[in-house]
Amino acid sequence: MHRLEKIISDFNLKIDDVKNKEVLEELRIEYLGKKGLVTELFVNLKNLAAEEKKSFGANLNITKEQITKKISDKKEQFLMLELNQKLAAEKIDVTIPARKQDFGLIHPISKVIKEVREILSDLGFEMAMGPEIEDDFHNFSALNMPKNHPARQMQDTFYLPNDRLLRTHTSTVQIRKMLGSKPPLKIAAIGRVFRRDSDQTHTPMFHQIEGLMVDKDVNMGHLKWCLEQFLMRFFAVTNLELRFRPSFFPFTEPSAEVDIGYSLNEGRIKIGSNQKFMEILGCGMIHKNVLQNCNIDSNCYQGFAFGIGIERLAMLKYGINDLRMFFENDLRFLNYYGFKINEF
Ligand code: DAH
Repeated sequence: MHRLEKIISDFNLKIDDVKNKEVLEELRIEYLGKKGLVTELFVNLKNLAAEEKKSFGANLNITKEQITKKISDKKEQFLMLELNQKLAAEKIDVTIPARKQDFGLIHPISKVIKEVREILSDLGFEMAMGPEIEDDFHNFSALNMPKNHPARQMQDTFYLPNDRLLRTHTSTVQIRKMLGSKPPLKIAAIGRVFRRDSDQTHTPMFHQIEGLMVDKDVNMGHLKWCLEQFLMRFFAVTNLELRFRPSFFPFTEPSAEVDIGYSLNEGRIKIGSNQKFMEILGCGMIHKNVLQNCNIDSNCYQGFAFGIGIERLAMLKYGINDLRMFFENDLRFLNYYGFKINEF
């Protein structure tokens, strides 16, 4: 009996000194583990006389229960302490104001591309695409610009190895479409084009729209109507004068440059007031040679084509006067001219 009291009193002293879970576990093993002090006394029970066994056994059980309870209480204390520390460390102050979040805006070029695509689709043009890395055939020769043709010099080209180049215009898509499918065709292609040029009105990369229609009875009247509809809707005006000026492109005959009417109001351009004219696009009837290069019988079919610069449309519509600003990613420009997602 003495031994049990000693065990308990030693244990009580020790457990008061325990500072963490690990030490507590060591203490548990010391008393209740397989070779623990209390466990060994249980093993020794069998050596006692029957009478002694009974009373000592009962006291031993009580001792074991006391120790077990103290250990589990202490363990509980440690767990609570840990939890409280964690709660204190992870405390969230819901009264702190939310961090400011900046949302991106839609670039004016993306906005114009979307509008143009919608209008041309409504006019019955199917959207087409072509690669930005092209070859001499699709960018020049098929478009009636054989080697040494002076018109090639008008477009300062980025040449790549192996007869490759960055397309200088989206007219390449005309060729790909005419070679790839049979007329009637009515397509529009929107995409990036590249030229070795950089100043206030030129950037080495810009965007164009190409329109093309090929059928048996296509004439310049159809071209004019399409362009009128397109431009009036794009600039949201009901009265827009167009002026077709004779011009030259190797791939169209006749060729024209189209001017739109505008007026100036305190330095701001107003499209559709028809006092002055400015050039907006190039167009014409597809040259016989181009049709033939694409295996289309030019005695049977005619077509029109037009090409428009997306940046020019955006500059006129939104009053932006330096082309380079589109691509400088200056946040002041983007925040001023960008569109919220719900305006897109
Ligand atoms: N490809 C011409 C350019 O980049 C634009 C153009 C003019 C396209 C007349 C046409 C066209 O389809 O008929 O300058």
